[in-house]
Amino acid sequence: MSAVEQPHGRSSVPVRDDLLDVAPYGAPQADVAVRLNTNETPDPPPEAFLATVAERIRSLELNRYPDRPHRALRAAIAARHEVDRESVWAANGSNEVLLQLLQAYGGPGRTALYVRPGYSMYPELCRTTLTRAVEVDLDDRFELSPTVAADAVAEHDPDLILIPSPNNPVGTPVSHDAIRALHDRSRALVVVDEAYVEFAPEGTSVVPLLGELPRLVVVRTFSKAFRLAGLRLGYLLGSPWVVQDVQKVRLPYHLDQLTQVAGLVALEQERDFLAHRERIASERERVRAQLEQHGQLEVAPSAANFLLVRAAEDGLFDRLLEHGVLVRDFSSKPRLERCVRVTIGTPEENDALLAAVDTVLHRGGA
Ligand SMILES: Cc1ncc(COP(=O)(O)O)c(C=O)c1O
Repeated sequence: MSAVEQPHGRSSVPVRDDLLDVAPYGAPQADVAVRLNTNETPDPPPEAFLATVAERIRSLELNRYPDRPHRALRAAIAARHEVDRESVWAANGSNEVLLQLLQAYGGPGRTALYVRPGYSMYPELCRTTLTRAVEVDLDDRFELSPTVAADAVAEHDPDLILIPSPNNPVGTPVSHDAIRALHDRSRALVVVDEAYVEFAPEGTSVVPLLGELPRLVVVRTFSKAFRLAGLRLGYLLGSPWVVQDVQKVRLPYHLDQLTQVAGLVALEQERDFLAHRERIASERERVRAQLEQHGQLEVAPSAANFLLVRAAEDGLFDRLLEHGVLVRDFSSKPRLERCVRVTIGTPEENDALLAAVDTVLHRGGA
């Protein structure tokens, strides 16, 4: 076996110094019965989607490169949000959109500000793009007040601000006033990452502020409420100059023909795709109510398809895994001591989680 193939060995060509001790990012993809750790939706896409995509794929010219600026897909996304096509840009998952934003507006000598707790990819993206990272703490209710937001930008003068709303892993949305404060008190690109917004109450999204705040960018994904995590498709809405700037860092033909077509079909069938949201929200509240019956558990309010749960003692993640239920462990993260994040699954999966929690807590294991 050569040096590069050794799983834990050092390669013969030294990797960048700052990557020497870095472990590849990603939630465990363990082979367990109940996987509630990556905030996907449990229901597959509608049957009609697969049939239409299969049909459309037949007419593709796969010997040709895809339409590089993916005009048809951007036009369909633009129509969904009632903006111009020049204000839309898509990539392989919202993670790639975020990476392109960091590549275009971050980098050496640049600063990105994000909230804590927050989406754990933001520090990774900053590291990869050599962007200085600074954090602002959410308050005890996991909210960001406009005053704290304004103070943070005054202190750090960031080039880029990354705000997940609803927040992952906490589940709380950020108020429009806080976003306005971040925008108006800074010179930064304010990126609001709305990966879970389709699960949140009406009025949560900051898309209506786009016309008012020229440095606001909204990032969306097909991976969560749209049930297409396997597709890898996300997009941004922002001023046309943002769309022009990210094209300076994108790879040529980054978005393949199959993804473009599947995204178009999903948008045509949006109503069917999103029909499951109410069931997810009611399951979330059922799971919350049952978890809260255990005096040892605290459950944060959530406008998303997951719940952040704090146990009275360490070890909940491991105990649940022993019972075949994989959740996401946040217990080593600052401010999230003894916390796990639980994705809302099918009613059966949720029942399995609740049964495992009952067993674990009755045995006094967490
Ligand atoms: C807040 C947030 N943003 C972005 C993403 C990335 O989603 P994707 O790359 O699948 O679009 C996730 C995924 O978990 C997320 O939680």
